[in-house]
Amino acid sequence: MRLRRCAHLLFEPREALQFDLDSLAAGGDGLRTQLSLLALAPHRQQEIAVSPQDVAILAAVPCTAWSEFDALAAVYGAAPLQDLLARGLLIADDAASVDHLRDERLRAANWRTLSAAQHYLGRWDGVRSGDELQRAGYVTLGELIDKLGEPPPAAQTCAAEDARLPLPPPRRSAFDELLQRRATCRNFDTDAALAQDELATMLHRVFGAQGTLTLEGGGATTVLKRNSPSGGGLHPTGAYLIVQRVAGLAPGLYHYRPVEHVLEPIRALTADDASDLALRGVAAQAYFAAAPVLIALAVRFPRSFWKYRNHAKAYRVAALDVGHLSQTLYLAATDLGLGAFVTAAVNEVEIEQALGLDPLVEGVLAVCGFGPRAQRRAADEFDPNGRIWHEDGSRIDR
Ligand SMILES: Cc1cc2nc3c(=O)[nH]c(=O)nc-3n(C[C@H](O)[C@H](O)[C@H](O)COP(=O)(O)O)c2cc1C
Repeated sequence: MRLRRCAHLLFEPREALQFDLDSLAAGGDGLRTQLSLLALAPHRQQEIAVSPQDVAILAAVPCTAWSEFDALAAVYGAAPLQDLLARGLLIADDAASVDHLRDERLRAANWRTLSAAQHYLGRWDGVRSGDELQRAGYVTLGELIDKLGEPPPAAQTCAAEDARLPLPPPRRSAFDELLQRRATCRNFDTDAALAQDELATMLHRVFGAQGTLTLEGGGATTVLKRNSPSGGGLHPTGAYLIVQRVAGLAPGLYHYRPVEHVLEPIRALTADDASDLALRGVAAQAYFAAAPVLIALAVRFPRSFWKYRNHAKAYRVAALDVGHLSQTLYLAATDLGLGAFVTAAVNEVEIEQALGLDPLVEGVLAVCGFGPRAQRRAADEFDPNGRIWHEDGSRIDR
């Protein structure tokens, strides 16, 4: 058998403080420090406890060339090598093994190791995003300030007040009206369905190809023009829909094709299953799950990293692309008189599984949604200038 180290691997010495009754009884501070050494292995999508000896072996086994097991065992012993193989940190030359396949897929995608660790160890499964804050008593901004003190100020100060240069008043146009009516919607009308042409308009404005360019190389490479910028012009972000209430469209999962402007059905769902997936997808944020359509924004990493190979900025570019798409989505929704949201507090593992996405190829970075607003505001929204809601909580109709 031959072995090599997995392609992407980081180690973290972690220190956790734990309550310790014995220390308190002995007159100490009641805290015990727990030290651990962790391997952060993106292809395993988990942290794995290791020993200093494991680290020494992993540091000595190449990841780009195969080594004979027997030769390594003569130096380190067979048992520690078998242990590392079982934990997937050493990879055997066995094309059928799951760790071998995952490691190969990650190598092929040209990830930067730091970014791969950040992405694959930051994915959520079964998280309810409000619970932690609720337990800690940090729900409102007021409670946060009570517990944590004031946050840093809203803007930086770079010069003395008397050195500031006044600017002329900004110009105003209909665009400002649109911008000012943009606010994160946490009050969707749970009875209203979206019209199909509203959905089509949203998809085309946000994700649709406004133009294409075909470059002839060995094959034919299509470059999309969208209404948002994209690093390298690659537009690696796809739109996967959880449809709950759209007139004439069965609840279920769909993928939008930006050039043909069509939906690809992935799987039909009952209304209850769609609602359950929506709620789990947005980590139990019920006010977002109530939107008639939610869209998982999934980045196809190999398309981006085809150009940005092992690149320090590539993952940042992917996240920025998703942010641009979400702002275009907010504005497109506002223009249609709809509410919209974006959240990164998502259980991407559950969404990817439901959609049948291979997370080593495509990863959900955020979820957006849109739909008609409710008549009355029940959950908080940030509308300090009263553009959306009257003071009594009723909706301003335009
Ligand atoms: C990347 C990103 C993630 C967000 N995640 C959440 C979220 O998980 N839950 C939520 O209620 N709002 C979320 N928001 C919305 C913000 O809370 C909101 O933008 C902010 O309060 C300002 O309000 P406005 O968008 O109405 O101007 C998110 C916004 C962004 C840009």
